Amino acid sequence: MPAQIVANAPRDLRFFDTASSIEVDHMDIELDEQAVNEVAEIFKTPLTGSFNWDYRLQEDRIQKLYELGKELNWNASTDLDWSKPIGEAPTEIRIIQSGFSEYQPFLDLSEERQLEFIRHSEAWTDSQFLHGEQGALLVASQLVSCAPTYNAKLYAASQTFDEARHVETFNRYLQQKKKLMYPIDGALKNIIDKILTDERWDLKFIGMQVVIEGLALAAFTTMKELVNPEGFKHDMLHLIIRDEARHVAFGIHYLAEYVQTLSQEEKEDRAEFAYQACVVSRERLVPTDVFREFGFDVEEARQVFLDGGAAAHFRKLLFSRVIPNLRRIGLLTDRIRPKFEALGILEYENMPDDGEIDWAELSKPLY
Ligand SMILES: [Fe+2]
Ligand SMILES: [Fe+2]
Repeated sequence: MPAQIVANAPRDLRFFDTASSIEVDHMDIELDEQAVNEVAEIFKTPLTGSFNWDYRLQEDRIQKLYELGKELNWNASTDLDWSKPIGEAPTEIRIIQSGFSEYQPFLDLSEERQLEFIRHSEAWTDSQFLHGEQGALLVASQLVSCAPTYNAKLYAASQTFDEARHVETFNRYLQQKKKLMYPIDGALKNIIDKILTDERWDLKFIGMQVVIEGLALAAFTTMKELVNPEGFKHDMLHLIIRDEARHVAFGIHYLAEYVQTLSQEEKEDRAEFAYQACVVSRERLVPTDVFREFGFDVEEARQVFLDGGAAAHFRKLLFSRVIPNLRRIGLLTDRIRPKFEALGILEYENMPDDGEIDWAELSKPLY
């Protein structure tokens, strides 16, 4: 079926309330012919790729990560039990996480509506993960071409398949379990566009492997701790976290060596890019589409969400891995530090980074 080409990402909220979308416990995804509507948005990229003609095997950490990637492959259709209930966190925790436990317009909703709001907020977050995973899939496939070394190309290929699984899993989770899907947030779309269309491969690494994946890894880890360990979501996050931990380790190791070879000016350029990616990422954590859906005053709700106690703390905590990782790579330059300070996230500077690879942890069997 020919795709419908659109100029911008659709803005509509989608509901999946029939059994037609994806068949449970079946390898094949069966879709109602009428419901399939390929919507494509074109991007153009000045990708500079390279062959690599030196096939000598280099026994390094990148190669080891590639081996692990192959070994720890999993299958979303058969390694996850889709018949299990989601196993959400307890309601009180979900309310606190929504950021509105003390917001009057939220408290004025009936109990049923409050729960509906929370379901939407969570679906919004998971939808951003889905769209982010698609971005990661596209970027990882670009890295196969533009990463300069042999090992990195093979590694990027294995990551590409990991990201395909993540897209598949989040998509099915949203359609089958949450039964609704939010469109991509504008700020997230901007940053992915920037990463996809920049021709410098190292910027793609910084934006995707360090900032976006670093934030996702922190968010997945926190979510996994809050949900019911017996439920589906726990299992799903467990498998995805295993993959993302390798991706972040790869990004840091590859970049740390490379950044040392750059001039100071080039470093500052990369540091500024990483900073901008953090600013945008901070913004994108606000589910304004959900506020709109529930008739809240969007600007007021946004402020409450940004200033709110537990939710604001949680959002800040997401940077507790990204900042030390940027330091490790050499991108927390003296010129950029005050900017991170103003953002209120420089305090994580001296937290442990992901540069020391815990091989025992990364090599554990999946279950
Ligand atoms: Fe991923
Ligand atoms: Fe990833």
